[in-house]
Amino acid sequence: MEVVITETAAKAGALGADAITELVARQPNAVLGLATGSSPLAVYDELGQRVRAGTLSLAATQAFMLDEYVGLPADHPERYRNVIEREFVGRVDIDSARVHGPDGRAADLAAAAADYEDQIAAAGGVDLQILGIGTDGHIAFNEPGSSLASRTRVKTLTHQTRADNARFFGGDIEAVPQHCLTQGIGTIMNARHIMLLASGRGKAEAVHQLVEGPISAMWPGTILQMHQHVTVLIDTAAASRL
Ligand code: GLP
Repeated sequence: MEVVITETAAKAGALGADAITELVARQPNAVLGLATGSSPLAVYDELGQRVRAGTLSLAATQAFMLDEYVGLPADHPERYRNVIEREFVGRVDIDSARVHGPDGRAADLAAAAADYEDQIAAAGGVDLQILGIGTDGHIAFNEPGSSLASRTRVKTLTHQTRADNARFFGGDIEAVPQHCLTQGIGTIMNARHIMLLASGRGKAEAVHQLVEGPISAMWPGTILQMHQHVTVLIDTAAASRL
C-alpha cells in the first residue's frame, strides 16, 4: 500500500488524475471503476480540465460504478446513476452508454446483482478502481460487518451512513434510502489497481484503521492491506492520526 499525503484535496485529485492519464495513455480502452461521494470529485474535475484542454480522452474507456441506492425514482438527483452523469460523464468525453451501474430499480435485485458481476467480468475486470471511504470505514456501501469476500448484493445502510449522506437529501435522514446494491469487497479487490481518496479530519480514524489497523470486517477498508496495488491519496487532515 502506497500512502501519499498532500496539502490539499485538490492536489490529491491531480495525482489521481495523473494515474488515470498514464493508464489511458498505455491502454486507451481501460476499464475504470467509479465512486460517488465528495472524495473523487477533485479527480473528476481534473480529468474534465484535461479533456477540455485536449490532453486526455476517455472516449474509448468503459466505466463501472461501485454502488446504487435501491428504489430512488429514475430522475432523483441523488440516484448514483444521475450523480455520475453530472459529476463524471458531464465533465469528460465518455459516452453515457459506456458507463455501467447496478440497477437499483430492478424488480429482482438479486438477479440484478448477479448480472452486474457478469458485466464486469465480461469487460475483463476493472483496471483502476477509484474509491472513497466512509467515516465508519465502509468502502462502496460495504458497511462494517460485511464479508470481506462478498460479491455484488443488496445491503442495508447503517444509521451512521444515512446520517452522513443526509446532507445530500436536504439534511433529512428519513429521505435517505435504507437499502442499496453494492459491489462486494471481493468484487472491489479484483480490480488491478485501487486508488482510495480521503480528505478532512472526519476521515482520520477511518484512514488510521485502513493503513495501520488490524484487518477486520468491522473496518472493511482494512482488507485493502491484502491487495497488491493500492494507492491512498489523502490530505494532511485525513492523515492526522497516522
Ligand atoms: C458513500 C459512498 C461511498 C463513498 C462514501 C464516502 O456512502 N457509497 O462510495 O466512498 O460514502 O463519501 P464521501 O466521499 O462523500 O465522504
